[in-house]
Amino acid sequence: MAGERRTVIVTGATSGLGLRCAGTIAANGPEWTALLAGRDRTRLAAAAQQIKARTGHRCPTLEVDLASLASIRAAADDCRRRLQAGELPPLHALIDNAGLQVHGPMRRTEDGFELTFGVNHLGTFLFTELVRPMLEAPARVVVVASGTHDPKDDGRIAPPLEVEARALALPSEDDARRISGMKRYTTSKLANILFAYELARRAPQISVAAFDPGPTPDTGLVRNAPAIIRKMLASRALRRLFRLVRVSLNTVEGSGDAMASLVLDENRWAASGRYYQAKNGRTTERRSSEVSYDAALAARLWQDSELLLSETSISRPPA
Ligand SMILES: NC(=O)c1ccc[n+]([C@@H]2O[C@H](COP(=O)([O-])OP(=O)(O)OC[C@H]3O[C@@H](n4cnc5c(N)ncnc54)[C@H](OP(=O)(O)O)[C@@H]3O)[C@@H](O)[C@H]2O)c1
Repeated sequence: MAGERRTVIVTGATSGLGLRCAGTIAANGPEWTALLAGRDRTRLAAAAQQIKARTGHRCPTLEVDLASLASIRAAADDCRRRLQAGELPPLHALIDNAGLQVHGPMRRTEDGFELTFGVNHLGTFLFTELVRPMLEAPARVVVVASGTHDPKDDGRIAPPLEVEARALALPSEDDARRISGMKRYTTSKLANILFAYELARRAPQISVAAFDPGPTPDTGLVRNAPAIIRKMLASRALRRLFRLVRVSLNTVEGSGDAMASLVLDENRWAASGRYYQAKNGRTTERRSSEVSYDAALAARLWQDSELLLSETSISRPPA
C-alpha cells in the first residue's frame, strides 16, 4: 500500500485529541488524507485551518452530529458519494474518537436516547456500521475508549453500570435522576470496548483496536463540568499531587499522537481486537477490564443496539 493515497475518517476532529491526531496524520505526508468529522461547520473550518497552519495540508471535512441518527445517515451518504466520485482517496481507516461527558441533569439526543450512551455508543455504532461497507482492504478501525471503563484502573471512582442497552438508552425517570453523569460516561466507554471486540469477531477482514488515551486534562472533555472541578483539574498543585501518587497525566500532543500511531504504524495492524493505552509517552498493549471480554455480553449489546436503532426507522446497513 505504500505510496497509494488513502482516506482516514477522524470523528471529533474539532477539538482535543481528535484535532491533534488528525493534524499528526496530515503532517505525516500525502499518503493519508484525514477527513475531519464533526458536528459544527464553523468548528470544522477552524480545525481545518489550524491543521493547515501546522502542516501545510488542507483536510476535507464531513458534517456529522452523532446525537442525531438522521445526521449520521446523511453523513454516511455524503461520504459514500464523495468516495464514489473520486473526490476522496479510497477509505482505509476510521477513528471513532468523538465522545462527551454530561454533567448535571440528564440530556437526550434528537431521537430520545440518553445523550452519553446515545453519542458515545449508539451514534458511534451506527456511524461505524454505515461506513464499514465503504472500507477497502486492508482496513483499520480504532475505537477510542477510556481507562475509566475499568474499576481496577481509572474507573475506581465511578465503576461502570451493567451494560444493558435499552436501560442505558431509555432510562426510567428514577434512573435518570439517580445515576451520575460520570457513571454514564464510564459505562459508555465499556460499551466502546465491547463494541470494538465484537466488531473484530464479526469482521475479521478489518483490524480493530480499542484505545485508552489515558488521563489528558487539557482537552474539552470536562467543559461542562462544574467550575470547581475544571479549576481543580487545571491547578498546578493537583497535578503535582497526581505525580506524587504516581498518577500520570498525559498531554494532548502525546495522547493525540499515540492515537494517530494506531493508524500510521502498520505493524500494529497485524493484531485485531486488542486494547492499547497511552501512558508516560508510550503506547502499550494491555488487558482491558474482565467484563469487557464477555463475548455473550458484547453480542447482546450489538443486537440490542441494532434493535434500538431499527425502532427509530433508520434502516440497517447492508450485511
Ligand atoms: N481527555 C481525556 O482525559 C480522555 C481520557 C480517556 C478517553 N478520552 C476519550 O477521548 C475522546 C476525545 O475526547 P477529548 O478528551 O479530546 O475531548 P474533547 O476535546 O471534548 O473532544 C471531543 C470531540 O467529540 C466531539 N463531539 C462531542 N459530541 C459530539 C456529537 N454529538 N457529534 C459529533 N461529535 C461530537 C466534539 O465536538 P465539538 O467540538 O463540536 O464539541 C469534539 O470534537 C473521547 O471519546 C473521550 O471519551 C479522553
